[in-house]
Amino acid sequence: MFADSKYLSKAEQLDREDPLASFRERFTAPEPGLIYLDGNSLGRLPAHTADWLNEVISRQWGRSLIRGWNKGWLELPVRLGDKIARMIGADPGEVLVCDATSINLYKLVMAAMAYQKGRHRILSDELNFPSDLYILQGIISLLGSGYELDLIRSEDGMCIDHDSVMSAIDENTALLTFTHTYYKSSFVQDMAGITSLAHRKGAMVLWDLSHSVGSVPVDLKACQADLAIGCTYKYLNGGPGSTAFLFVRKDLQEKLQQPIWGWLGSKDPFQFGTQYEPAEGISRFLVGTPPILSMSAIEPALDLHLEAGITALREKSIRQSAFLLEMFDNWLSGLNFTLGSPRVHGSRGSHIVLRHPEAPAITRALINPSVDRVTVIPDFRTPDNIRIGIAPLYNSFKDIYTGMQRIREVVETEEYLKNP
Ligand SMILES: Cc1ncc(COP(=O)(O)O)c(C=O)c1O
Repeated sequence: MFADSKYLSKAEQLDREDPLASFRERFTAPEPGLIYLDGNSLGRLPAHTADWLNEVISRQWGRSLIRGWNKGWLELPVRLGDKIARMIGADPGEVLVCDATSINLYKLVMAAMAYQKGRHRILSDELNFPSDLYILQGIISLLGSGYELDLIRSEDGMCIDHDSVMSAIDENTALLTFTHTYYKSSFVQDMAGITSLAHRKGAMVLWDLSHSVGSVPVDLKACQADLAIGCTYKYLNGGPGSTAFLFVRKDLQEKLQQPIWGWLGSKDPFQFGTQYEPAEGISRFLVGTPPILSMSAIEPALDLHLEAGITALREKSIRQSAFLLEMFDNWLSGLNFTLGSPRVHGSRGSHIVLRHPEAPAITRALINPSVDRVTVIPDFRTPDNIRIGIAPLYNSFKDIYTGMQRIREVVETEEYLKNP
């Protein structure tokens, strides 16, 4: 079995010095040997979530019954939104927890296109998350002739450079929409630079924060961002399919009209009037009844993040990424691997992509090892990307060491050929 005592002792030393080390125990780990490096796709379960959900089910739903709506359920989308706001540099009342990321994208893009009358073009890029591109294509098809979606090309398949964005914006551009941290390469866009560029040309910008929230510091206020969306099941550990969020800058809230006029986004839902009037503030971006049970599952995880603090989380993520890259250079570069993420820490989120022609088989061998080997779960993105998700709240340096050690072993011994 491949081992390197120098890096093993370094991992142990870094774990001893890690100020966030104790957060690991606040997550369930029913399979103690498992090395989970996929928190960028589905975060682990916080230890408190099951008890909290049990409380919400038995006490709030079981006892309060319908009275629960007047005891905090109606405020939950805004209350949880305010907690997320603290992680992304937004003010209270600017973030709402609701719907799925794709649906929030639809609502905000439609609202922006209606607001930007006379401009007919949406600008995005070919590395954006496919669901975002599908939603944009659907919107263009719905808006009809004269509207267009243009995708900026990437020169290296990893990043979108600032100059291509600058030269692509024109007088007809209503909206730019990009992912802040790219799902495949982990490239982090220049939010401040692009937002100010777009504003100078009269365009709005919508950011998808799904891979940034909880892992990369975001300051929407300092960037004067217009709109943002994001999910809560990755680094935020809200659970599979947990409710997403949206951000609308305060001064835009009254100006924008969202396209789905549901009763919970209306001014006084319990008057049961026949004519829709939008609610004041961020609540007008709600549609239907919030899923209280699944939304409640997000709260313990948000509290853990706020306790740890995004600055400390980012610092640890960078230390862990540097450690991973050192092992990558020393152990893997001769084994036909290439790096699929930017090397500069400031241009990269919290996952790192290792590219290899045999990536699908290598990933399968890591996830389904022979009996005496540890299971490592990264994820795979077509065609040749192994994504290593670093979740600093619960991943140790030893996890990173063991994950990399297994990758080297699987390739060096050609174990992946046994599991094609
Ligand atoms: C960057 C990004 N945007 C959007 C989505 C889609 O989110 P949802 O399924 O909540 O619509 C994902 C899902 O992984 C994503 O990674």
